[in-house]
Amino acid sequence: MANQVREQWATRAGFLLAAIGSAVGLGNIWRFPYVAYEGGGGAFLVPYLIALFTAGIPLLVLEYILGNRYRGSPPIAFLRMSRPTQALGWWQVAICFVIAAYYAVVIAWAVRFTGFSIGQQWGDDPEGFLMQDFLQVAAEPGMVSSYVSGVVWPLIAVWVVTLGILALGVRRGIERANKIFIPLLAALFLVLVVRAVTLPGAMSGLDALFSPDWSAITDSAVWVSAYGQIFFSLSIGFGIMITYASYLRRGTDLTGSALVAGFANSSFEILAGIGVFATLGFMAVTGGIALDEVATDGIGLAFVAFPEIISNMPAGSLFGLLFFGSLVVAGMSSLISIVQVVIAAVQDRTGIGRIPAVLCVGGAIALASILLFPTEEGLYLLDAADHFINQYGIALAGLVVVVVVSWVLRKLPELQTHADEASAIRLGWWWPVTLGVITPLVLGWMMWDSLRSEIA
Ligand code: PHE
Ligand code: NA
Repeated sequence: MANQVREQWATRAGFLLAAIGSAVGLGNIWRFPYVAYEGGGGAFLVPYLIALFTAGIPLLVLEYILGNRYRGSPPIAFLRMSRPTQALGWWQVAICFVIAAYYAVVIAWAVRFTGFSIGQQWGDDPEGFLMQDFLQVAAEPGMVSSYVSGVVWPLIAVWVVTLGILALGVRRGIERANKIFIPLLAALFLVLVVRAVTLPGAMSGLDALFSPDWSAITDSAVWVSAYGQIFFSLSIGFGIMITYASYLRRGTDLTGSALVAGFANSSFEILAGIGVFATLGFMAVTGGIALDEVATDGIGLAFVAFPEIISNMPAGSLFGLLFFGSLVVAGMSSLISIVQVVIAAVQDRTGIGRIPAVLCVGGAIALASILLFPTEEGLYLLDAADHFINQYGIALAGLVVVVVVSWVLRKLPELQTHADEASAIRLGWWWPVTLGVITPLVLGWMMWDSLRSEIA
């Protein structure tokens, strides 16, 4: 086990920026707007905020405490809490390995599309462009797929930058990078949102997003998706926050930090919702299309709907640069945090230095990502991996962690004291009740729900 002195953040603000950088990612930009729209619009804010306060913030505090108290990446932190739980930590590390390998690929696409924005190189048929010209998905099923050359170089660049930042360490690498990324991202977002809401038709988009459909509140599926969004969006259950908090000085206000990070993430999310739907409203009004038809999430939103809108917009090139540029920045700060979990775990376990760990571990993830995903098979794998991890991997890890910590080891009182000693905000009865009762019930329900829909 490592006996070097553990690295530390230079300032608490630096830690917060890195934590916000990890949380604010593709999920804020392309997942939240659509999930909110589908889940009752303005009415969705009710389950969303309840999920934030009954699961999001409490779990964030728990991860901060585990990292800060046991001072390690997930395997070591869990091992120090109780030896057999080490396996939980390795499960999270494995999830991070897989996610990092495909998250980088989506960032590489965004890098390419930032370039394509200049002069709208996707032409009149962005969907065809994405599938055939860019991803080179074979037109006929069963055809031998080719290696997608267009993605390889940007993907290599994404990995060189990521591993370069990680090689510089926590303070000089991760902290400094986020000090640039987050203000930059906030600026990009603000310009984008201002541009979007001043487009003709913007208000009809906002109307569609925010007009509340109160019947959604009685739909259990909407609640499941609100909790799912909160878990995904706050990057809870990956051990990322355990890792980042392990570089935090003892005696730091963890409860306050979780509140700041949680609110910052939600603010970025709501801002993105406004930007995305104002833009979709413009598309609906100027293109005479029903908003229903253009409102999607994920790859369809970012790489098909947005290119089409950008082509129809005055000064579209600039808008495209800002939009895809912010996807890149938001994605990079998340990718850095995922890879750091794996690197830190191997370092903690073997005691090897940072540079060899970045080269071996980071190199292995990068290689897997470069060899695997830019192929057609890789695309299907990406989809399958994403589905499995989001539906089961994270929820399972989260469920086991909360049950073990609150019921098997009965550690909550001790952990609560750790946080309360350093914070003006006391956790009170709220924290053990949410973690011990509400979170396990919700996570259990979510897993049952996705299993059931799988069978049906
Ligand atoms: N929380 C990120 C988002 O909202 C996603 C993410 C998942 C980031 C896992 C890091 C690790 O997009
Ligand atoms: Na997020």
